[in-house]
Amino acid sequence: MNVGAVAGLRIFVTGGAGYIGSICVEELLDAGCQVTVFDNLSEGHRAAVDARAELIVGDLLDEVVLGKALAATRPDGVIHFAASALVGESMRTPEKYFRNNVVAGVNLLDAMVRIGVKRLVFSSSCATYGLPAAIPVGESNPQAPINPYGTSKLMFEQMLRWYEQAHGIISVGLRFFNVAGASIRHGEDHRIETHLIPNVLRVALGQRDHVEIFGTDYATPDGTCLRDYVHVLDVAAAHLAALTATGSGFYNLGNGAGYSVGEVITCCRRITGHPIPTVARPRREGDPACLVADSGKFKSAFGWQPLRADLAEMVASAWAWHQRQPHGYQDVFSIGSIAPGTPHRQLATTHHHESCHQTG
Ligand code: UFG
Repeated sequence: MNVGAVAGLRIFVTGGAGYIGSICVEELLDAGCQVTVFDNLSEGHRAAVDARAELIVGDLLDEVVLGKALAATRPDGVIHFAASALVGESMRTPEKYFRNNVVAGVNLLDAMVRIGVKRLVFSSSCATYGLPAAIPVGESNPQAPINPYGTSKLMFEQMLRWYEQAHGIISVGLRFFNVAGASIRHGEDHRIETHLIPNVLRVALGQRDHVEIFGTDYATPDGTCLRDYVHVLDVAAAHLAALTATGSGFYNLGNGAGYSVGEVITCCRRITGHPIPTVARPRREGDPACLVADSGKFKSAFGWQPLRADLAEMVASAWAWHQRQPHGYQDVFSIGSIAPGTPHRQLATTHHHESCHQTG
């Protein structure tokens, strides 16, 4: 994509202090955009926001603060990353997901309508598909989420169609698969870490004794779940491209290659030189066996290609960042956050999906 296409645009980024948001903000700034980050810092970090961006600390649920922030910015477009995004947590507290991902989303759209902002790029998820009927997953795969997180993302997707019809908002919904890796300055630092790669790297850093493998009896080559890992810088590039959209649409964003949990751990051992002991655990509730994207629709619409498609490159960039910042951003915990070390209840295991056939 020609980055010049977005130069000079004024972009309002919700969740711009989070993992994917902060790296997208960096890329927007490098491409010549003016960026305002709107984030309540419940999951994001002040230190993750590039100094060239404006940071407004506020909550999407606070319509007054949000309205003032958007009116003061008068952006050309909004990129909406802010969300609660833990599948397991969503099973226990669905209300949090409908409030933060749906109610907050309505507030954002309504503020956009009031101010006349007509362009939105939205972080959706492969979780909207539930248990995919075929692999790789195309956009025509039925959307039948199996957890409240996926349902909340699908509800927002469905609202977008009507906001376009009634209010002319052009939106691009990007259904992320598993985002991984880091930029030089920014990486993944969740207050409660549930994701595979950062958990494995914590073992290599000596912060944990072992990594747990959730499920070793799936119908996959090594019995562990297959996921499609896409580099966060490629995801950021996709957002810049999506800002140039001339019409609305929903697109998958992944590499099209599936790596098992076992393969990810082997790759991390190679990159870090650490033995990374593992402990087999029961399946984690809500995990489909296999999620691999067909991103052909986005590639042909926007000329996007993942430039860092190799898993080793993703792991190496994450490892470099974690070595530089072994304790992440080390900032003070903010409103609404949960201190690290809060026990995580392992949910009862259900076996939803057995087969995993890759057809493309
Ligand atoms: N896993 C382990 N051990 C861990 C962490 C994860 O075995 O310590 C396994 C999981 O069970 C899963 C795989 O590694 O099989 C990947 O798990 P992640 O938590 O890294 O990622 P998910 O596939 O669960 O989640 C990602 C995004 C979500 C998004 C989801 C869509 O992080 O935001 O994809 O299904 F909703």
